[in-house]
Amino acid sequence: MQKLKQLLTDLEPSIADIINQPGSPRAVYEPISYILSLGGKRIRPAMVLAAYKLYQDDYSTKVMQVAQAVEMFHNFTLLHDDIMDNSPLRRGQETVHIKWDEATAILSGDLLQIEVYEKLAEVGNVEILKLFNKTARELCEGQMNDMQFEQMDAVSNEAYLDMIRQKTAVLLGFSLQAGAILGGASKEEGEKLYDLGISIGLSFQLMDDYLDSFGETAKVGKRIGGDILEKKKTYLWNEMWSRIDATAQQEIEAIYSQSEPEIIAFIKTKMDESGAKDFTLDLAQDYTSKSLTALDSFIASTGDKTYLEEIVKMLASRKS
Ligand code: IPE
Ligand code: IPE
Ligand code: MG
Ligand code: MG
Ligand code: MG
Repeated sequence: MQKLKQLLTDLEPSIADIINQPGSPRAVYEPISYILSLGGKRIRPAMVLAAYKLYQDDYSTKVMQVAQAVEMFHNFTLLHDDIMDNSPLRRGQETVHIKWDEATAILSGDLLQIEVYEKLAEVGNVEILKLFNKTARELCEGQMNDMQFEQMDAVSNEAYLDMIRQKTAVLLGFSLQAGAILGGASKEEGEKLYDLGISIGLSFQLMDDYLDSFGETAKVGKRIGGDILEKKKTYLWNEMWSRIDATAQQEIEAIYSQSEPEIIAFIKTKMDESGAKDFTLDLAQDYTSKSLTALDSFIASTGDKTYLEEIVKMLASRKS
């Protein structure tokens, strides 16, 4: 993972710059520094740089600013997402709404989002700004669908894939297309990279769902089983639901009156026994293969594809 490591090293000064948040009152800035300093994989800014590397060797100020903007926006979405999902743990530490309170998490998130727009104003590229606005709108739509699905028994694969495309994949698509635009890509190439980002994003969210139930807390840094407790209609869940009979479905409904560990253990067993667990991993793998094939056939002007290739491969085998 030499290339990805290099991208992360290249990003370090720009990330340090956004972590260091002066300003007052401290109460609204500290949670921003806190969440950004907890790390995370930084894959979105790495994708901005990797797409740029398809066209240019040396970074510009603007590409670093877009990388900063996308990581700030991602962290803003997490502050609010953790409230929506009642998540106590993020990156192995307490979430902002638990460590402080919900009002703080909302307001620090709002401020972070404003900082994204300040960054994008500095970049001054209307095409990127419009693409970002479309992305941010879709992400909110996806988040609402995600929450509304909690009230349903199960949703179709089509509805699930569209929801994760919106809540997760579009930001990865944005990251690649914006990096490519700044690198000098043609419109057609930029759009192809956006589609590649979508395919990477679908695989990414399938893995995120998988790890939420079957990962290890120490590596994932989140509460394992959170999606099950929130009744998230993940692919794992929907597949399980469609594969079990009415009696088993009733058992599942009934288990929710039991303790949290019992609920999680029972449903994980059903996801495993029904074959939904393996099937989900297979689907994630399909999208990864599709992404690698698309990347393979991608002809960019100068083109060092190895950066992006490494990112796709790393995401396929990730444990965090
Ligand atoms: C978590 O994203 C939110 C999703 C869209 C699934 P990441 O898994 O990229 O989170 P960090 O930034 O690495 O912590
Ligand atoms: C997150 O999806 C999508 C956004 C933050 C926009 P999840 O709710 O699955 O992300 P995690 O699992 O909390 O990181
Ligand atoms: Mg969520
Ligand atoms: Mg969440
Ligand atoms: Mg998740």
